[in-house]
Amino acid sequence: MMGKLNIVGVGPGSKEYLTQIAVETVKNSDITIGSQRALDLFENKNEYIVFNVKDLTKKLEESIEMVKKGKNVTILSTGDPGFSGVLKPIKRISREKGFNIDNINVVPGISSLQLAAAKNHINWDEANIITFHGRENIEDILQYINNGKTTIALPSRKVKDMAQFLLDNDVNPNREVIVCERLSYPEEHIVKSNLKEIANSEFTYMCVMII
Ligand SMILES: C[S@@+](CC[C@H](N)C(=O)[O-])C[C@H]1O[C@@H](n2cnc3c(N)ncnc32)[C@H](O)[C@@H]1O
Repeated sequence: MMGKLNIVGVGPGSKEYLTQIAVETVKNSDITIGSQRALDLFENKNEYIVFNVKDLTKKLEESIEMVKKGKNVTILSTGDPGFSGVLKPIKRISREKGFNIDNINVVPGISSLQLAAAKNHINWDEANIITFHGRENIEDILQYINNGKTTIALPSRKVKDMAQFLLDNDVNPNREVIVCERLSYPEEHIVKSNLKEIANSEFTYMCVMII
């Protein structure tokens, strides 16, 4: 009999933002697959497999095979699986393998985007929301950047390079930019500045930009 495949959002990183249903789903799974950082959030898990960026596709393919053999498998996705998360590649692999998407149970998580919006009192239903993660065509942002709305973006490259790109495309150097780095972690760092200053500052890859 076919097992079940769960895709579970684990939130922005801190245990406090894990949902009860995420914890229960992992506890009830035969196998949980995720990054070491995501797996470490769960005290009660059974068998587990660590993946990294390089072997992600292989591990996702293997998880479908395990489900076909009757295992209940959970794949962990940072933030929410549907926002630059595991949902997109797993849907592609499911199509390729003829695996029915109705066998996939998606458990939402709190996205870094949501936490960035909350920390900065932004109604995100009124914002431009855009992710450049894993994409290189950052020029798309130019369609939105001056439409009068706040833009919340996951950068594709270094934050300073995104800022420089906007400067090179005539966005006002004094435009306010907020960089939300390592949200929910003890080292969380939120910097409110302007485009010119941000283009000269260093951040880690784990940032949400508000422009
Ligand atoms: C593969 S995407 C995953 C996004 C995730 N699905 C979400 O909903 O937040 C990874 C990117 O999300 C952003 N991100 C994830 N967690 C974050 C955090 N705790 N603080 C700031 N940015 C974060 C960073 O831009 C990072 O490079």
